[in-house]
Amino acid sequence: MIKELLINLLCILGVGNMLSAQTAKFQTPPMSWMTWNYFADNITENDIKEMADAMVSSGMLQAGYNYIIIDDGWQGGRDNRNNIIPDPKKFPSGIKALADYVHSKGIKLGIYSDAALLTCAGYTASYGFEEQDARTFASWGIDYLKYDYCNAPGDREEAIKRYSAMSEALKKSGRDIVFGICEWGHRQPWLWGAQAGGDLWRTTDDVRDKWMRKDTDGGGEGILDIVIKNLELGKHAGKGKWNDMDMLVVGLYGKKGPSGDLGGVGCTDVEYQSQMSLWSIMSSPLTASNDIRKMNDETKRILMNTEVIAVNQDPLGHSAEVVLHNDDILVLKKELKNNEIAIAILNKLPDNKVINFELQSLGLDGKYQLRDLWKGIDMRASSHWKGTLLGHETKLFKISK
Ligand code: GLA
Repeated sequence: MIKELLINLLCILGVGNMLSAQTAKFQTPPMSWMTWNYFADNITENDIKEMADAMVSSGMLQAGYNYIIIDDGWQGGRDNRNNIIPDPKKFPSGIKALADYVHSKGIKLGIYSDAALLTCAGYTASYGFEEQDARTFASWGIDYLKYDYCNAPGDREEAIKRYSAMSEALKKSGRDIVFGICEWGHRQPWLWGAQAGGDLWRTTDDVRDKWMRKDTDGGGEGILDIVIKNLELGKHAGKGKWNDMDMLVVGLYGKKGPSGDLGGVGCTDVEYQSQMSLWSIMSSPLTASNDIRKMNDETKRILMNTEVIAVNQDPLGHSAEVVLHNDDILVLKKELKNNEIAIAILNKLPDNKVINFELQSLGLDGKYQLRDLWKGIDMRASSHWKGTLLGHETKLFKISK
């Protein structure tokens, strides 16, 4: 109450805009398209422009995906005043002109750097140049920075120092730039990421375009591996501080890019639909990484289901809780606005499975109407849901309490 009065007073005094500019954190998980999984470091300004066009024409922007994030590989070293510059062959018009183009479409632009001298792919990074680079990014009109941690020391204290240094530099840059921490969950950033100025933080190693890790893959996270690693992390997330479960691999089909390494042979549409369901209910950022210039109908259906996206973007900003988890099934629930709840039921097995889920295990007695969000239909009121799940399928329901 007192806080609200104070904010009203500051608004009347004209300080409100300043205040909101400084506190414009993501109230719901960010939604974006990111270059890495499809292009790796083979990116050009033309590619980004085409993606911006496709974001509008495909309906992705309208569905809520409103950032394009340029990942590693844009850098061309430093000029004779140590200003970081883009690779002139890949970005001949410069990043400012590109940002203007992207902004003209109603899309925000993100960029990538790293808290060491070199990035993961070996390009120029920002350690020791935080303030100068932050000023450069601001002058280009950058809205988001993904800040990686390759080639930096292992201990947590140093990581906190390096991330804090960049977030302070961004705050001083004169532009509102959101800050994505990317140290792959190695130092439990859910415990310190917000204090170090992060708006979101990656919780695992890089996602690969596969359902689950195999011993023969040489590592790499599959969709289910990432889900399991995040099951207990929801309590650390909320408005302005999100657990980033890495990019959606929906629509990549194992065809191209780094997500195809380490056993990333591609997934089925059923598995991609599960990724979208689980990332949504677990309130992860939704970061598409497929070629949005040419998507088949299934990919569009999965990435742009407005009712599923609404579960991710629910204004309460809650994350999912585990209701039931065993070798066969995972059931998650998420509290939504208007006294509604979302429920995800995942069949972890490769074969079909008949499931009878009692609503009582959610603390709900009596009969309730479930809405199947993927089918877009309301079901007959019942005290349970019984049905067959395909192998690796996730059903997503909404219930009004
Ligand atoms: C790391 C990150 C990826 C990507 C690459 C770029 O592996 O985790 O998401 O940014 O670096 O080199």
